[in-house]
Amino acid sequence: MKGVVLAGGLGTRLYPLTKITNKHLLPVYNRPMITYPVECLVKAGVTDILVVTGGNNPGDFLRLLGNGREFGVDHINYAYQEGEGGIADALSLAEAHANKGPICVVLGDNIIEKNIKDAVDSYRSQGSGAKILLKEVPDPTRFGVPALEGEKVLYILEKPSNPPSSFAVTGIYMFDSQVFDFIKGLTPSERGELEITDVNNLYINQGAMTWSMLDGWWTDAGTFDSLLKASNLVAQGGANKI
Ligand code: DAU
Repeated sequence: MKGVVLAGGLGTRLYPLTKITNKHLLPVYNRPMITYPVECLVKAGVTDILVVTGGNNPGDFLRLLGNGREFGVDHINYAYQEGEGGIADALSLAEAHANKGPICVVLGDNIIEKNIKDAVDSYRSQGSGAKILLKEVPDPTRFGVPALEGEKVLYILEKPSNPPSSFAVTGIYMFDSQVFDFIKGLTPSERGELEITDVNNLYINQGAMTWSMLDGWWTDAGTFDSLLKASNLVAQGGANKI
């Protein structure tokens, strides 16, 4: 399985920090943000990785990550997303990298305490379709939120004012090659983006979506509060633990 880290977008919620540099190069405790999702994939055994960048200073990603060896990556590719067309728009740039095989996608601002090894292994045996990882959160209105019925996910709402559950869909997704056809059929949402939640709902409608609960803490780092929280969590005990 190949890996994709999505680090495009303009990071407007972190302005003026992002006036000078790219959001994913900002420090989370003692390392640039993007190194956490890269390490998350490597620790799950996914070492052929595409980094999709965008916005300011794309060349700095190359300076930081280089050929990836220092971070345990066997092979690293880079792509550049123009503008801020959404997570699914950024993911569309990964079609050649995926080369018709399955991919594990991690958002460039998502950081976890433990690891996704079991989920990746279980998706490998699933063979096709998609898999998402969920986490209970105190503030589901900030995220994609699933409606669950037993083991089944019925649908996902993006940033709902009345969340159907107290779980967030984390920014860790596993997809088969159909994902690129689904993205080609999307239209922009009210916020003008191609939404990953719309992609996930297409898999759900096909009966091809599974989910697991993520173990350990999870946070994004895309707002001032969550960036601070991420730094504190990492300082207290580290991330991506096996
Ligand atoms: O963090 C998990 C949440 O991420 C999910 O629960 C939501 O369903 C999903 O839509 C997303 O929500 P956000 O609104 O928080 O996403 P944000 O716009 O902050 O983007 C998260 C990362 O995705 C960002 O750090 C880089 C990548 N991205 C985002 C956009 C908008 C891109 O690569 N390109 C983009 O155009």
